Amino acid sequence: MTDSPEPFIQIRDLHKSFGDLKVLQGINLDIPAGEMVSVIGPSGSGKSTLLRVLMTLERPEQGEVLIGGEPLYSMDGEGHTTLPPKAQFRALRNRIGMVFQHFNLFPHMTVLRNVTEAPVRVLGVSRKDAKAEAMKYLDEVGLAEKADAYPAQLSGGQKQRVAIARALAMHPEIMLFDEITSALDPELVGGILALLDRLGKRKEMTMLIVTHHMNFARQSSDRVLFFDGGVILEDGKPDDIFTHPTHDRTREFLKSVLEV
Ligand SMILES: Nc1ncnc2c1ncn2[C@@H]1O[C@H](COP(=O)(O)OP(=O)(O)OP(=O)(O)O)[C@@H](O)[C@H]1O
Ligand SMILES: [Mg+2]
Repeated sequence: MTDSPEPFIQIRDLHKSFGDLKVLQGINLDIPAGEMVSVIGPSGSGKSTLLRVLMTLERPEQGEVLIGGEPLYSMDGEGHTTLPPKAQFRALRNRIGMVFQHFNLFPHMTVLRNVTEAPVRVLGVSRKDAKAEAMKYLDEVGLAEKADAYPAQLSGGQKQRVAIARALAMHPEIMLFDEITSALDPELVGGILALLDRLGKRKEMTMLIVTHHMNFARQSSDRVLFFDGGVILEDGKPDDIFTHPTHDRTREFLKSVLEV
């Protein structure tokens, strides 16, 4: 995987503002296929915004993003970002999955239906095949026996597992996880982090994980990004960032979160 000629995700000088508020102020990032990257940093530093821009939930006003060499966002002659033609854009977007803090399951559908809905409707998979696949992913996240339950009958941790299975069922090459354990009771967090760790070790997907679990970031990821004020202030191997960060700002942040 690492012998591909170019990084799988390439981000160049990415900018995103909300009104006067500059949230991403020139993000540059290359991520090889299969890498698991943890994103840490203070509240409001732009972590979620970067993921939302990659998921195409927000449009950047400047910058470029290539996925597998194909442009998701590119610049026109006047310095504005442009999107590829609709079909191409949709195809690229389908290669990216995201799991959020709040699981947003369809409440009126069973667990199984939650997982099969998008493969059937978006990918055109037959319901039979989608079910077989869904059971495989539910088994993977330890919830095969809950296939016929409704979301309201599940714990928060179980709901989050369903959300992960639902995202996996779309076979994304890139998975974005935004603080997916933040809404969970503490005793449910470990299981979700162990699942992420397992997915990362397989190297089948490129993963970006916004997390405030520093032990997880240090022990499970291949690489850690420290965000501050809309830029990536540090980018390196977990041990390097945690043991000798190059910026005082990183040291202060780590000190404050590790003291909690
Ligand atoms: N849709 C929006 N409209 C206006 N402002 C927004 C919007 N989304 C984010 N912001 C602002 O952009 C800044 C960065 O937000 P973002 O959610 O990316 O931060 P974050 O690093 O994920 O923070 P946290 O750790 O608290 O989740 C914040 O000041 C936020 O209020
Ligand atoms: Mg956030």
